Amino acid sequence: MANDPFASFKAAQREGWALFAPLETLTTPPAGALVAFAGVKPGQAVLDVACGTGVVAVTAARAGAQVKALDLAPALLARARQNAEVAGVAIEFTEGDVEALPYPDASFDVVLSQFGHMFGPRPAVTVAEMLRVLKPGGRIAFNTWPPELFTGLMFALVSRYVAPPPDVPPTVLWGDPSVVRERLGDAVEALEFDREIMLTPCLSPQHYRATIEGTAAPLLKLVQSLSGEPAKLAQFRAELEALIARFTKQNVLLQHFLQTRAIKR
Ligand SMILES: C[S@@+](CC[C@H](N)C(=O)[O-])C[C@H]1O[C@@H](n2cnc3c(N)ncnc32)[C@H](O)[C@@H]1O
Repeated sequence: MANDPFASFKAAQREGWALFAPLETLTTPPAGALVAFAGVKPGQAVLDVACGTGVVAVTAARAGAQVKALDLAPALLARARQNAEVAGVAIEFTEGDVEALPYPDASFDVVLSQFGHMFGPRPAVTVAEMLRVLKPGGRIAFNTWPPELFTGLMFALVSRYVAPPPDVPPTVLWGDPSVVRERLGDAVEALEFDREIMLTPCLSPQHYRATIEGTAAPLLKLVQSLSGEPAKLAQFRAELEALIARFTKQNVLLQHFLQTRAIKR
């Protein structure tokens, strides 16, 4: 990352995501949905980009694929290795950056990412890298958050309190099919979308707010940044709790996500 203009942004991401592991119970079902949506088959070479604790990677390996996986955060990779060991599958985990994938051209049949590649600061670089390592005729597939539903609205709320770097586009644009279509462009064919819901147990809005504040990088950063401004922090928390309440039914928070799949030309 020596000459990377986003080195400090990525260093913050690397630290910021270190506490994400408890949320793997929530992202496990969407990982199953992604592997099925991508149509992963036994023997295929599969890459899980921004793998976190490896929920997608382990799911693909259990489906019989030969899996490699990469993430910026060493703490999550340690947990991912444990997950693979418990599941009894062999996966090659590597510390690295979605904008500089350490794999040769055309080395995978399937490239996947769940709620992960969207944190690469330059979408064009991210797309170019994910497609570079994919074989022609191979499949790219990912899960992302639509801007108009719970998680997208939560990210927008966070941005109103702590401005993101001006040169990094909002991550939730990856949840807008028209933006995804434009970003993948002519490099792919058979582009398809679907929607799924991540179901999150939610005893109260305060419970989920406390969980997410202690695990997800953008929220951790916000709480740190506002530690000297208690009134502003209280106002943020009230707005977040109202948003959580709006999307919670019978103690379940509904987090809709977009699924995208396409074939590399
Ligand atoms: C919301 S977590 C998702 C983790 C996992 N895919 C899952 O579904 O549970 C986002 C992940 O993106 C990783 N990440 C953020 N920026 C990255 C980058 N530039 N390159 C690789 N991984 C990155 C974080 O370290 C974190 O593990």
